[in-house]
Amino acid sequence: MLAFIGGTGLTRMDNLRIVDKHAITTRFGEPSAPVVEGELDGQRVLFLARHGDPHVLLPHQVNYRANMVALKEAGATAIVAANAVGGITTLAPTGALVLPDQIIDYTWGRESTLFDDPADPLVHVDFSWPFDTALRDALKARLAASDLKWSDGGCYGATQGPRLETAAEIARMERDGCDIVGMTGMPEAVLARELGIPYAMLSLVVNPGAGKSTHEITMEEIEAVIHDGMANVCQLLAEFASD
Ligand code: HPA
Repeated sequence: MLAFIGGTGLTRMDNLRIVDKHAITTRFGEPSAPVVEGELDGQRVLFLARHGDPHVLLPHQVNYRANMVALKEAGATAIVAANAVGGITTLAPTGALVLPDQIIDYTWGRESTLFDDPADPLVHVDFSWPFDTALRDALKARLAASDLKWSDGGCYGATQGPRLETAAEIARMERDGCDIVGMTGMPEAVLARELGIPYAMLSLVVNPGAGKSTHEITMEEIEAVIHDGMANVCQLLAEFASD
């Protein structure tokens, strides 16, 4: 079953007809919220609010391991994760969607593997291409058929937060090759890989990264973009579910 993870601005999918809510406790503890099972354009899908419902968990407080294991236990066979990001390069103007194809992880101190028991087999998952190709291709086809502004590919830099970056940090990330910056892509993406679940990310650019505009980044500015942008994401995901 296709599952969606909603980030900032997507705590609930208004177009989802809720059929069930699975309160799942995993060996890593509680996920951010119950896994919602519902119908989107007539298709059965799962939905999880990454930051809880209501949105209370900061990026470093999210129990990513419990979230991903709960989705697997609820029957997720593919995951599309939506998130709000800052834009760094010209392929990521404010308001556009990015379908990243790479990740650089700058987070620290997060529980970032499911294999933490000495009794577990020693597994080093391949993560050369962190997103699932077939799932990305399907999303690409859906985006190409829409009139939304979007980019195919880009490198997602995952920062620790919850503060935004300094201008120097964003400049360094640009030199490293990052196109967008967010706080939740890791360890979520690698946990999906460890679980063997195809995973792709759909990122909405909600502000220029630090130092990329002449003004300070305000929550008001971000929320204004999120409002319309996430409504578009909801619509697109519904169409995607019924493809
Ligand atoms: N930096 C990190 N995470 C973000 C940003 C940003 O500028 N905007 C939205 N999420």
